Amino acid sequence: MSKSKLGGSFTFPGSSISVNRLGYVDMQLAGPGVWGPPKDREGAIAVLREAVAAGVNQIDTSDYYGPHVTNHIIREALAPYAEGLTIVTKLGAKRPPDASWQPATSPAELTSAVYDNLRNLGLEAIEIANYRAMGEGHGPGEGSIAEQVLALADLKRQGLIRHIGVSNVTAAQVAEAQSITQIVCVQNHYNLAHRVDDALIDDLSRQGIAYVPFFPLGGFTPLQSSTLSNVAERLALTPMQVALAWLLHRSPNILLIPGTSSLTHLRENLEAGEITLAPDVLKELDGVAIAPAG
Ligand SMILES: NC(=O)c1ccc[n+]([C@@H]2O[C@H](COP(=O)([O-])OP(=O)(O)OC[C@H]3O[C@@H](n4cnc5c(N)ncnc54)[C@H](OP(=O)(O)O)[C@@H]3O)[C@@H](O)[C@H]2O)c1
Repeated sequence: MSKSKLGGSFTFPGSSISVNRLGYVDMQLAGPGVWGPPKDREGAIAVLREAVAAGVNQIDTSDYYGPHVTNHIIREALAPYAEGLTIVTKLGAKRPPDASWQPATSPAELTSAVYDNLRNLGLEAIEIANYRAMGEGHGPGEGSIAEQVLALADLKRQGLIRHIGVSNVTAAQVAEAQSITQIVCVQNHYNLAHRVDDALIDDLSRQGIAYVPFFPLGGFTPLQSSTLSNVAERLALTPMQVALAWLLHRSPNILLIPGTSSLTHLRENLEAGEITLAPDVLKELDGVAIAPAG
């Protein structure tokens, strides 16, 4: 399978929004623990500007990063926003003064979070808002998300949100959300080693819905595998480039938002969009999975 620059493009269902499949999440641009300002604000601005200059037109953020910090940096770095730049945000959490992560999922809290994002990004409407369920850590929990999705659907009717996604959810929760409103993307934990969502990805692909893995590089525990390292060495690539390229080959509805505060890593990650992995290499990498496919 051959890949074009930034992995080629993807159009969200029921919309005219087309983005390059390789995007960027700005979580690494806040201070340590995603709290407060970064050590190097100018460096953070440079990363965002270089990403956009390289063709990235899908930037993932949240007003609870910092809080407010990364949205302010996006605005300083990129406003006035170029036509075609899609900023995707997440709602559903808050950061009290002790820097912890707490759920903020009542309709009033979701509404207030939308206004926070609009104000801090300097936007009149949010292109795509994901309801990020707290679940259990970085995995989904059981239970209905109807109240939250109904609240987002209402904000969409008011014109404050244009499209809705869900994050950290089960297949049943995706179906529940779809029974309420159109869902254009699902953001869940998935990577070369952690493949619990294999069936969900295929189902969303059949429906033309985007699947955006968080932790594409392993997140807090960077991917480590001798197979991955061997393949990377043979192809004269870095393991992270191979891991990203594998995701782009995995399904055409996968969009990537690897986060980094480093220009070197950014460049490396964006190059992954042009990597072609041969079928035998893909098969070898498939063997890295440690979570049962299902
Ligand atoms: N929907 C959601 O809930 C959602 C969505 C997106 C992100 N997140 C959150 O964001 C956090 C980070 O997730 P993520 O998706 O950004 O994780 P990730 O992409 O798997 O990993 C990011 C980490 O990898 C490093 N990195 C990036 N590019 C690299 C490269 N080329 N070589 C070596 N290291 C590289 C970054 O450090 P450097 O800065 O040093 O490069 C950073 O520490 C998680 O806590 C996740 O929960 C959540």
